[in-house]
Amino acid sequence: MNHQQYQFEFEVYESADQLNEHDAALLSQAKQATAMAYAPYSHFKVGAVAVLSNGQVITGTNQENASFPVGICAERVLLSNAAIRYPQVPIESLAISYDNTRGDSNHPISPCGICRQSLLEYELRVQKPIRLILGGLSGKIYIVPKASSLLPLSFTGADMQ
Ligand code: THU
Repeated sequence: MNHQQYQFEFEVYESADQLNEHDAALLSQAKQATAMAYAPYSHFKVGAVAVLSNGQVITGTNQENASFPVGICAERVLLSNAAIRYPQVPIESLAISYDNTRGDSNHPISPCGICRQSLLEYELRVQKPIRLILGGLSGKIYIVPKASSLLPLSFTGADMQ
């Protein structure tokens, strides 16, 4: 028996003022995108905006449904949108923000488990890590250099060969 360790590094910024201008602009767009969310059940509006390596910008927001499990997270709406509009073009950075209209929006949120699996597949599909910029409407910002680092010991297509 031996012990193994998994580690990953991410950056923590005290506020959006400390970001470089590109990251600050992308996060600001993600904050604005929360207004386009369809979240009449959770009242938790998520906005995701990505810049691709061809310079194009793609947006996603959460889309809920009266049948709750049918709802889709902002991240997966964005990935589907990117895959259709610019197939095989890598995502450079993806900013995720939220407006919790019945609570606080003052700390970063991380993608849910299903979205982590989808982000991993996208990285493998286009062979490029996705850099995440995570922040609420205010408060700290996390920058995670590689989305798939949020999903250690992951299951991928390689396991099925
Ligand atoms: N949600 C997202 O869109 N992305 C996340 O990273 C976390 C959760 C959505 C799903 C649901 O519509 C609402 O937020 C509350 O869970």
